[in-house]
Amino acid sequence: MKLLIDDARIEKIKRIYEFYPVDGVTTNPSILAKGGRKPYDVLTEIRSFIGGDAELHVQVISRTAEDMVAEGHKITSLLGINTYIKIPTDAEGLKAMKILSSEGYHITATTIYTPMQAFLAAKVGADYAAPYVNRIDDLGSNGIQATRCMHDIFVNNSLKTQILAASFKNSLQIQELCEHGIGACTATPEVIEGLIKNAGVSSAIDVFNRDFESLCGENKTMLDCE
Ligand code: G3P
Repeated sequence: MKLLIDDARIEKIKRIYEFYPVDGVTTNPSILAKGGRKPYDVLTEIRSFIGGDAELHVQVISRTAEDMVAEGHKITSLLGINTYIKIPTDAEGLKAMKILSSEGYHITATTIYTPMQAFLAAKVGADYAAPYVNRIDDLGSNGIQATRCMHDIFVNNSLKTQILAASFKNSLQIQELCEHGIGACTATPEVIEGLIKNAGVSSAIDVFNRDFESLCGENKTMLDCE
């Protein structure tokens, strides 16, 4: 399962890249608005930091298929062909996906709340379908179950589309999808750091350090304990 960062704050992205095995960055208009910078300024900086081969996902804003296609062309011309054009999955979006997919662009079908949206996006050639796990929960359905169902629909219908699950609030949600072998998850830096935060682990490491110091002296390590 790939792991991506759902954020556009460059300092946060740099920190996660330094410590964690991540495969790229996803953004959406709300994430860009939080950063407060001009979209192409920040996206160009992100692209330059993560490199041309990493996945960068950027959403279109237009409401008609023709304009979405034009936005997709501009996004990829400025940010590289390995930029996934995120398209909301409504009727206009499906039409735009079909056109861009036939032209060979990478597409992420986004704003997915139901398995049938994911199925239709896969049928028109999206590379990824992005269900919003937490938001599905908030509507009274089960986001994990819905996402697993979408994954199974792809596998059972021989559709090449992968899941790119989004909208997480905790580690367990990601673990449950990882266990099911979905394609990718994207999460905030805070949720990614939460994947490894564990008081039990920190306390075990503290005990190891204290025991070693009692043997060799304060601040000694295997470098200078002789
Ligand atoms: O990319 C979609 C994702 O960012 C939604 O997350 O937390 O706004 O539901 P959230």
